[in-house]
Amino acid sequence: MARSSEGRSRSPKLPGYNGGVGFTLRDFRREDFDTLWRIDQECFPAGISYSQLELAAYIRRWGSFTLVAESTGRKVNGMSRDGRREAEPSTVTLGFIVAEAGRRGTGHIITIDVLPAARRFGVGSKLLSAAEDRLRAIKCRRVFLETAVDNQAALAFYKKHGYSLTKTIPRYYSNGVDAVVLQKDLLSQGEPAKLHQLR
Ligand SMILES: CC(C)(COP(=O)(O)OP(=O)(O)OC[C@H]1O[C@@H](n2cnc3c(N)ncnc32)[C@H](O)[C@@H]1OP(=O)(O)O)[C@@H](O)C(=O)NCCC(=O)NCCS
Repeated sequence: MARSSEGRSRSPKLPGYNGGVGFTLRDFRREDFDTLWRIDQECFPAGISYSQLELAAYIRRWGSFTLVAESTGRKVNGMSRDGRREAEPSTVTLGFIVAEAGRRGTGHIITIDVLPAARRFGVGSKLLSAAEDRLRAIKCRRVFLETAVDNQAALAFYKKHGYSLTKTIPRYYSNGVDAVVLQKDLLSQGEPAKLHQLR
């Protein structure tokens, strides 16, 4: 599935890029792996970020799929002899999501990672919505995920997307931090945010 960014006026501004860049979503390709692993290292602290083996196992797991957000900008190379700015089409991987469809109609968001420079431009929202659409298409009625109790950005992000708190798992992460398990009913549309318990 490929979906392009739409309905959002802001776009990421990355170093070396000529103004903002748009982005599109596409399915994972094997050659993406090293880039995705590096993004995961940048997005999560030690103890929460995945080893290469872990990330590879999640991406290959039965029922799992990975979507990649890629910029559609033009990279500025410098000036031509006649003083014009030279730019060539160039793509940068901005983020990705790994999700899986389990048995009994339940989906699971394994991870969602957006590069720091590309945050707050709607990339995470597009990735999450595309993964939810795909889970719905394969008959998942609900989706759940775990995130660290102290990950304020993620909690605000999931709240905006209508996730609700189901439980806390003490010391879920290897650095000793607790996780919250959040869930969303994929069949109810336009559900209001329900994370008031987390305030
Ligand atoms: C969580 C994450 C995926 C969000 O990605 P993103 O591309 O910045 O998300 P969006 O731009 O689509 O944000 C949508 C909304 O979520 C909320 N939100 C996102 N980041 C937020 C932050 N740092 N603080 C407060 N609210 C935030 C806002 O309501 C935002 O809408 P707005 O920008 O119009 O105010 C990104 O911050 C990230 O990769 N973090 C590191 C990895 C991680 O923690 N993953 C989630 C746990 S698995």
